[in-house]
Amino acid sequence: MAGSIPPLHGPRYAQISGWGMAVPEKVVSNADLARTVDTNDEWIVSHTGIKERRVAGDKESTFSLAVRAAREALLVAGLQPSRLDLVIVATVTPEYFFPSTACLVQDAIGAAFAGAYDLSAGCSGFVYALNQAASAVRSGSAEHVLVIGSETLTRIIDWSDRNSCVLFGDGAGAVVVSACAERCGIMASVLGSDGSGGDLLIVPGGGSRTPPSHEMVDRGDQFLKMNGREVYRFAATVMPRATEAAVHKAGWQLADLSLIIPHQANARIIDAAIKRLNLPSDRFFINIDRYGNTSSASIPIALCEAIAAGRVNQGDRMVFVGFGAGLTWAAAAVEWGVPEPTKPRPWYLRWVAEIWYFLAGVRSVARRTERHFYDRVMGPEGADGVRGELRQRTDRLRLKIAGSTQRSTQPKPPKSLPAPPPPKQDPPNDDHGNTPPK
Ligand SMILES: CC(C)(COP(=O)(O)OP(=O)(O)OC[C@H]1O[C@@H](n2cnc3c(N)ncnc32)[C@H](O)[C@@H]1OP(=O)(O)O)[C@@H](O)C(=O)NCCC(=O)NCCS
Repeated sequence: MAGSIPPLHGPRYAQISGWGMAVPEKVVSNADLARTVDTNDEWIVSHTGIKERRVAGDKESTFSLAVRAAREALLVAGLQPSRLDLVIVATVTPEYFFPSTACLVQDAIGAAFAGAYDLSAGCSGFVYALNQAASAVRSGSAEHVLVIGSETLTRIIDWSDRNSCVLFGDGAGAVVVSACAERCGIMASVLGSDGSGGDLLIVPGGGSRTPPSHEMVDRGDQFLKMNGREVYRFAATVMPRATEAAVHKAGWQLADLSLIIPHQANARIIDAAIKRLNLPSDRFFINIDRYGNTSSASIPIALCEAIAAGRVNQGDRMVFVGFGAGLTWAAAAVEWGVPEPTKPRPWYLRWVAEIWYFLAGVRSVARRTERHFYDRVMGPEGADGVRGELRQRTDRLRLKIAGSTQRSTQPKPPKSLPAPPPPKQDPPNDDHGNTPPK
């Protein structure tokens, strides 16, 4: 849980203080898929390990799943959203091109003092975001960062393409990364990329290269395209390598690891990594059978389930390792710092949180309404007369209020400091622009 904040100049670490997940209710089994495409349960299980996946309903989206996971994570951390400094959403299926999904989440949870942005690094996105959160916390630029992996991949899948539609599912997972003084948390990360493999896993249409058009849609370029065999080969090589690199960077041995949480893309890829790393298979957490590949949500979802299953204890050394579109890969070496995490939070805290989120909603609506009606009520900018005067005064007041809602992270200078001397002025130029000699 998020504890007291360590001083900026002492030892400072970044630990996971809260976690949460959200998946859609709708379950689509292999048998369900076999009714619409030429596939069968036996092929899917033997080639991927997937038995079923979750698919977002009409009213669900990357944003709504992200908010649900975020609320759970904040509850576990016991952290008021207003104490967040940063919200990062790792996703390849954002709500919109812009605004970022992170900004929508920031508004929905009432994280009034947080910066927010999306991060796109394929299925490695969550580990990339975790690395950024840890860096921000360790450097002192943030105390608490909300990291979310949220995806609705089923929205960009061609449901008639059996090569890809059996693999993916929807969901979200979130963690709160908080500053702490004890040596624990995210101890090392490695990030990698190889853009030469960008075409192996791609949504070719809809971006600036091929903007939306009837022809683009007729070709089906708005859907995910994948060279399964090449991606498999890449993943099976890079996953053990990234795991070893993170362990090495943290100064640990592979044998120190009590748990590895790999990106859940294919059970066979995980099996290949197990063989390559020569570790007992029970050190790997696998839940792909129930969710399929949820891209950047897969690792935080697996983390939540591993914690719920009692597989994570204080002092445990773990690795989170992901790979995906880009091509990208990433691994984080994490020493678990939270004592006995499984105690449920008291019921009334849920109610307090509900009230907070209700008020966050009211705040959001109030701001939108104010923005909508301000010009109409106050009159246009630069107008003359009483209305113009009133508008100017109100504009100044709004600016003042906006300024006062910025939380300052800069320490205030001590009052006893002498006033700085006035800046030296250069002698004026003569009529020809030359500076006269001193
Ligand atoms: C996609 C993947 C499961 C395919 O497994 P594979 O063993 O490589 O299978 P192949 O592509 O060689 O296809 C073998 C046969 O199965 C068929 N097949 C493919 N999908 C099928 C399905 N859902 N049901 C039944 N048959 C299928 C192919 O058409 C092919 O038939 P053919 O030999 O008559 O042409 C595998 O390549 C993989 O997991 N790749 C990595 C994908 C991934 O993880 N992507 C996300 C990364 S973040």
